[in-house]
Amino acid sequence: MAKVLLLNGSPRPNGCTAAALREMISVFEAEGIETELIQVGNKDIRGCVACGSCGKTGKCVFDDLVNEVARKFESADGLVIGSPVYYASPNGTILSFLDRLFYSTRFSKHMKTGAAVVSARRGGNTATFDVLNKYFSISGMPIATSTYWNQVHGFTAEDVRKDLEGLQTMRNLARNMSFMIRSFAEAKDKYGLPEVEHGSFTSFPDGK
Ligand SMILES: Cc1cc2nc3c(=O)[nH]c(=O)nc-3n(C[C@H](O)[C@H](O)[C@H](O)COP(=O)(O)O)c2cc1C
Repeated sequence: MAKVLLLNGSPRPNGCTAAALREMISVFEAEGIETELIQVGNKDIRGCVACGSCGKTGKCVFDDLVNEVARKFESADGLVIGSPVYYASPNGTILSFLDRLFYSTRFSKHMKTGAAVVSARRGGNTATFDVLNKYFSISGMPIATSTYWNQVHGFTAEDVRKDLEGLQTMRNLARNMSFMIRSFAEAKDKYGLPEVEHGSFTSFPDGK
């Protein structure tokens, strides 16, 4: 059975972002896709200290929720990142979490489907959306899209439940993501994954 992990970057487990993610979960369940919603934003998650330990061990030196989710991410087919908008950016906790999750893990994320979902009261949504999508776009993860920006509006979950277009966008996003996950699974069987080249790592003109 295919599985999607959903990360809630909000400190509020039952807030606006949770309402958006739960709308997606109802569709995944109808589509026969297993889900796990992981509450990140209320945890004490520190940022990456660039120690380089993960380069040797394949896991973060701080053994917390990041390493726990990494094991689940390795076997998942899709990842949804949800965040409230804080000062026109993702919430700081989810950024610390994602920096460490993506930087410390060496397993292939190639063709796992990604989607970013944001919740704002008024503005800063698309800037937040851009930041979150970048984790997928440098990891070989195709990004699922919907019928409009993947966002809901509100200050409380009750507000979000009145944002009918936002909820519709979430349902369409989950349907598209389900389709992509099923299609990639079939294509992997039929064609195998595309070749990936590694080895070059150039930062300076002399290539060192
Ligand atoms: C520190 C902080 C900064 C915020 N900055 C913004 C902002 O820049 N734009 C905005 O529309 N809402 C902002 N908000 C409001 C939340 O993004 C909004 O209420 C969101 O829907 C809350 O989602 P949640 O219930 O899942 O936490 C901010 C809230 C907090 C606590």
